Amino acid sequence: MTTSYSATKARAHDGEISDEELSALDVLLDGDIDKVMSHLDRIVEAAPSYRRLISRWDNQGWNSESFDFSRDAEEWADDSIWTAEQKRFMIFSLSEFFLGEERVTTELLPFAIAAPDDDQRIFLASQIADEARHCVFFDRFYREVLGAEADTITENLEVQRANINDEFKQLFDGILHDCADELRRDPSNFEALVRGVTVYMIVIEGTLALTGARFILRSLKEMDRLPGFRDGFTHVNRDESRHVGFGVKFLADAIKADPRMKGVVQETLSETLPVGVLAFSPPWVEDRFDFETPFGYHSSEMFEYAMKSLSKKLAAMGMEPSAAQVAV
Ligand SMILES: [Fe+2]
Ligand SMILES: [Fe+2]
Repeated sequence: MTTSYSATKARAHDGEISDEELSALDVLLDGDIDKVMSHLDRIVEAAPSYRRLISRWDNQGWNSESFDFSRDAEEWADDSIWTAEQKRFMIFSLSEFFLGEERVTTELLPFAIAAPDDDQRIFLASQIADEARHCVFFDRFYREVLGAEADTITENLEVQRANINDEFKQLFDGILHDCADELRRDPSNFEALVRGVTVYMIVIEGTLALTGARFILRSLKEMDRLPGFRDGFTHVNRDESRHVGFGVKFLADAIKADPRMKGVVQETLSETLPVGVLAFSPPWVEDRFDFETPFGYHSSEMFEYAMKSLSKKLAAMGMEPSAAQVAV
């Protein structure tokens, strides 16, 4: 991490990286998740060009094997640190991330084929590699910290599938898979690509994943636990923010070129959000819309944060932020 940071700093002196980007790295290393998230939001809202996003990918590379999980493993095994409820909630949330990373790796392939421009295809190819790295990061965390004993990533995923909820399955195996399948059958269907990008980059990544991650990272930071995981997961989220930046840019351009695409985005949000937000709710809670988490925050805080994040992305795309109000 130190080496790549110094290298980045050196390149910044050569004028290759803006001050804004350098300060994003400073903020990331600072470890205050709300600072990280609001900074990443500002970058997304600025709707950078594809070239800029590709350059960011080139400069923000990391290695999923570089994080030290030894303190994490000791802490996870120590039952004086966690309540049984906290452990159950963490396993539910992190399993959704682990399985989600595999799903988005695989389902992105037809998006990359269907994207009309070279710059878009190059970015999406870089994103496929990011998502694969995220999946490998979680696979390693499950083995080294949570004690998973699977021989392969497939086996590990199969075991953790028991921990996720039905809405997650509906969102990834139903809605996202159908979008990818439509693009697989007809890569020239631009409207299908607009729908797919709305589901993938705006709802799954921009609204759900970044929100879920913010609450997990905030809780672990307050407890000062799982430092290796926090470091790695923060890097995952910087990548996610770049992916959301692509989605915002793609949809802003699509809407500018054809204002009817606003309707396609709006319709997709209406279909996806009511299922999507329930991916946050553990299957065992009595009221899936109204529950207290074992980390001391209420579900309403998560729903509110998610809708605020979505509104910001919609505004950056040239949509009414109120289009976010279809879910809650
Ligand atoms: Fe990811
Ligand atoms: Fe992503």
